[in-house]
Amino acid sequence: MRRVFIDLANEGDTLAMPVKDSNGNILLAEGTKLRKATKDKLSKHGVRTIYVTTGEDLGLIQPLEGNRDEAIKAISRQPLKDILLQKANTFSKSNTRSVILNEVIEEIVSFMLNKTSLLVHFAHLRLIDNYTYEHSLDVCALSLVVGEKLRLTRTTLFNLGLGALIHDIGKTKVSLQISRNPGKLSDEEFAQIKKHPSLGFVILKELEDNIPLVCCQIALQHHERFSGSGYPRGLKENKTHKLSYVVGICDMYTAITSHRSYRKAFSPKEAMELFMGTCNSLFPTEIVKAFLDAVVAYPNGSKVKLSNGVLAKVVKQDTLSLKPIVKPINSQQGYEIRLANAETLDIVGFYE
Ligand SMILES: [Fe+2]
Repeated sequence: MRRVFIDLANEGDTLAMPVKDSNGNILLAEGTKLRKATKDKLSKHGVRTIYVTTGEDLGLIQPLEGNRDEAIKAISRQPLKDILLQKANTFSKSNTRSVILNEVIEEIVSFMLNKTSLLVHFAHLRLIDNYTYEHSLDVCALSLVVGEKLRLTRTTLFNLGLGALIHDIGKTKVSLQISRNPGKLSDEEFAQIKKHPSLGFVILKELEDNIPLVCCQIALQHHERFSGSGYPRGLKENKTHKLSYVVGICDMYTAITSHRSYRKAFSPKEAMELFMGTCNSLFPTEIVKAFLDAVVAYPNGSKVKLSNGVLAKVVKQDTLSLKPIVKPINSQQGYEIRLANAETLDIVGFYE
């Protein structure tokens, strides 16, 4: 089974999971073969991604139905550490695997699994919406990669990673209908969503599990922006904790590179170009630079679709450009394209 964006799913693919709308109504049953009309119908209902069958198990996180106890058991069973480590290695520009990241991820996962009341809230995230849960794992892995670039101490890296993992915990207190809405929110609904940082702070502070204060601050401040344009408090510049800015930029990156029914996803390269213009407006320059230095737009080995329709594999990173060097699938041996030199050619998305 693998998860694919609806736009990139192939006609003839078989659904590995039923597709439901935001109210939980089944739109298409498991086992349905995708056709053009089916894809259009799903897009119309705001469905962003679907699960299709493959011959191999790629170890992706499966959506979960059921109650909290089942969700907690599923998290305990899930090789959370392996998933976080795999994500961190994928996002990182560095070719060498970091021992510190490995150990810090291990500490974060043990902390989470040993703190019952925190685990209950974390498991709840997954029941609300698999997207929010998977997003939390992405933000955690990305934040650790950026934190390592910032040469944070081991304890600070732990706090950063844990704070990133639970930054959206306040969404468990926002109405289910709003949390699950994949479409554009009304002003009233957005006002409700904007409460999740403060709600998260209260949840974490009130837990008996002794969550480090800075992790609570990350939950409270991850939507604050350097210019004061963020929420909930509109804090300016260094009034926001540095770690909250790290989680903020990683949160924004994963959000804008994901599809929404009301807008197309930014490609990773477009998102990074956007960040280049955000120094000292959305995030401090130091954090933007660390992000751009640490995170790779198209990881080596990823399969991409080019603007001329050709399918290719990323073989190397280009140190002078965000565009990598790719090798078209089915090309002759040794034929590679340095996309930085091919002005009219670009990557338009991933494919599996
Ligand atoms: Fe958030």
